[in-house]
Amino acid sequence: MIAGRPSRTSEGNTAVRAREMRKPAADRICSDPFAPHFLSPFFLQLRRHPLIGKAYGWLVDRRCPGLRGGILARTRYIDERTTACLGKGIEQLIVLGAGNDSRGYRLVEPGGGVRVFEVDHPATQAAKREKVMELFGGIPAHVTFVPVDFCRDDLRSRLREAGYDRDRKSLFIWEGVIYYLTAAAVDDTLNFVAHCSGDGSSIIFDYFPLSVIDGTCKRKESINMRRRVARMGEPFLFGIRDEEIGQFLRERGFQHLEIIDSSACKDAWFHGVNEAVKVTDIFRFVHATHY
Ligand SMILES: C[S@@+](CC[C@H](N)C(=O)[O-])C[C@H]1O[C@@H](n2cnc3c(N)ncnc32)[C@H](O)[C@@H]1O
Repeated sequence: MIAGRPSRTSEGNTAVRAREMRKPAADRICSDPFAPHFLSPFFLQLRRHPLIGKAYGWLVDRRCPGLRGGILARTRYIDERTTACLGKGIEQLIVLGAGNDSRGYRLVEPGGGVRVFEVDHPATQAAKREKVMELFGGIPAHVTFVPVDFCRDDLRSRLREAGYDRDRKSLFIWEGVIYYLTAAAVDDTLNFVAHCSGDGSSIIFDYFPLSVIDGTCKRKESINMRRRVARMGEPFLFGIRDEEIGQFLRERGFQHLEIIDSSACKDAWFHGVNEAVKVTDIFRFVHATHY
């Protein structure tokens, strides 16, 4: 992260979700009506100049084939699992590295008893907070913003001070974040989730195989994405070998693991008008419940 600047990778994800909103509802892989409102000045400019926006999208697809499809699949996967968890009575939703994640506003019913904690790097969160204030005329009562740098701050005490209750059944979402963190920060966070949340709590996150992070994966989208995020000041730091993910999570206190890759999502969801949308298979999606 560049000091004092909101995450640029977060802005890119928001733009992908905002673009999906241009499709008719029935054709969308995922639906995030708040995404267009969260666009950064750069992407707002692209939206105002459709030809330049189209050229930019073409360039992203050429350099990183299937990346945008992978991001849409990830949001759809997490939306579906989150909706299922809300249906099973979670009481707290903690969005880690929230960026412009809008699930606290579009999936959680205000006044329905679920508390939402948005946890993010202070600079990214400040920009989001301003937009939420604009959209809702204030921070909705069920949402609490918790500024945290996972690599420096103590998540446990920050959340506790914000009113998080470790005895309640909770869902943690960690979308598009762990590859930007140190191994120690990933461990600390998983340790917190596994040991400081109520029975039946779980976490949903995505990861890249280690080969994407260390550059040994020679897929075009992997090489170019790795370079691009480094240039943005958010270099990849952390990956997991596919053959080690199960043991990795069990050792950290998780069971009931669902681990799928984005190509399974392509088969399941990208039909009809979306048949031709490329989805890179380098994303891995995980839903893990603690012991
Ligand atoms: C690619 S964005 C993902 C944002 C959002 N979850 C989404 O899927 O659109 C990465 C997010 O991780 C956050 N992040 C990166 N490093 C962080 C750190 N050390 N501490 C806290 N948040 C961090 C950024 O602020 C940003 O919101």
